[in-house]
Amino acid sequence: MALATFSHLKKINRKRTLLFAFSLFISVPAFAKKREPLSFWLKDEKTVAVKRMFANISPKGGAVGAVAASPSKKNPDYWYHWVRDAAITMNEIVYRLEGFETPEERQIETQMLKNYVSFSRLNQTSKAKTGLGEPKFNMDGTPFNGPWARPQNDGPALRAITFLHWARLLKSSGRKKEVVKLYDPKFPQNSVIGADLDYVSTHWKQPCYDLWEESFGFHFFTQMAERKALLEGSDLAEELGDSPRALFYRSEAKSLEAEIEKHWNSGRGYIMPTVDQTNMRYKNSGLDSSVILGVLMGNTHDGFFAPTDDRVLATALALEKAFWKIYPIDHANKAPGIAIGRYPEDRYNGTNVFKPDNGNPWVLNTEAFSQFYWTLAADYSKKNAIALTPLNLSFFKALPLKKKYLASLKAGETIQSSNPLFQSLISALRKKGDSFMAVVRRFINPNGTMSEQIDRKTGRMVSAPNLTWNYAGFLSQDRTRQ
Ligand code: NOJ
Ligand code: NOJ
Repeated sequence: MALATFSHLKKINRKRTLLFAFSLFISVPAFAKKREPLSFWLKDEKTVAVKRMFANISPKGGAVGAVAASPSKKNPDYWYHWVRDAAITMNEIVYRLEGFETPEERQIETQMLKNYVSFSRLNQTSKAKTGLGEPKFNMDGTPFNGPWARPQNDGPALRAITFLHWARLLKSSGRKKEVVKLYDPKFPQNSVIGADLDYVSTHWKQPCYDLWEESFGFHFFTQMAERKALLEGSDLAEELGDSPRALFYRSEAKSLEAEIEKHWNSGRGYIMPTVDQTNMRYKNSGLDSSVILGVLMGNTHDGFFAPTDDRVLATALALEKAFWKIYPIDHANKAPGIAIGRYPEDRYNGTNVFKPDNGNPWVLNTEAFSQFYWTLAADYSKKNAIALTPLNLSFFKALPLKKKYLASLKAGETIQSSNPLFQSLISALRKKGDSFMAVVRRFINPNGTMSEQIDRKTGRMVSAPNLTWNYAGFLSQDRTRQ
């Protein structure tokens, strides 16, 4: 484009005008779609996300209850049941059951969860190399025994979080018998939640691979998931009369908190993804969007590393700045929004493991940032106040706010909901949240399907097509909007 002459541009413009007039005349839907407000697009995209997500749950060619990470069988081969991806996906099914579903939908979704219990029990009881720490299983349910980054201890924690979520829903609808099937208070190891909590409570002190299956050490994301699983597990164990375990899970969660605190790096001013990392020396910025994912997925609504924690806000801003610097697609036009990747030093392009490249932005990480901002808007609205601190001031100053408002933001002040500035800040948080979905919208396929990554230069979809987690991530951000 930089080399295009002025007259060439004019020609393109003329062509566009003609095309536009023509499209009005015959009303080409694809053209019209581009101009729709975001909210319209979100509504359409939700239908695609639900459909494509369902298609990867118990898909043809896999065992009932298995969740394929993607239907892609080569470059990359994602035709596996990843414990993490499956847990994140099935948690969205529980959220759907909590909402307004028709009786038919309820029946289908409940059956999906039951099948997922059976498949998970098969995984838990099989002779896998690292037991419950095994990151992925073949689609027929047999353990995957090839070389891999194992163990990954976020898997059992996330799976417990999903089943605990479902157990609470069952309990609130008076179906206690079914709850006891998920957590057997007499022989916990024989039930899906009990086995996971047993593993989590006895393994959190050991290092493992992270959610990106690469770095070895102690991970913020993994530990936030472990903590949530233990705390919510403790509550359920207590309710079912298993007090000794309830106490044990709670005390382990409390000891874990001290470890999670170690991720805060006051010198750098952000939360580090991994401490005591023993590999990947090139991954040294200490910035990784898995921290934001950990805050969202490990959220227990008790203030511990909450989204509104000023250390979390400072980390989010540092991540945005880092990704903004390195992805050319962010600068290709004046459209708002920042594409978010896993971490700045990423080299995984998804298609050729032997040819590391400059990493790309990812759909699921960009969606998570949208969810993060909408969560902030909701949390601050509930609090009725926004406290500005030396640590979070720059975060708020980076919001899309009128200049006069920006100038009035000062560390040490608390903006109460009676102050007109409060509502402007809430709207700005939502607006910024939307900007991440505008990025997703801009780069995904015209039919709404999503691959794992967005090429950092061309903006094309790359790596695993129809990545299940992308659709689950879409639904997560969608339910956070209100
Ligand atoms: C390295 C990638 O970074 C990781 O996320 C991926 O799962 C594995 N390779 C396997 O392809
Ligand atoms: C690579 C990602 O890094 C990992 O988190 C994920 O579990 C697998 N792909 C499968 O989607």
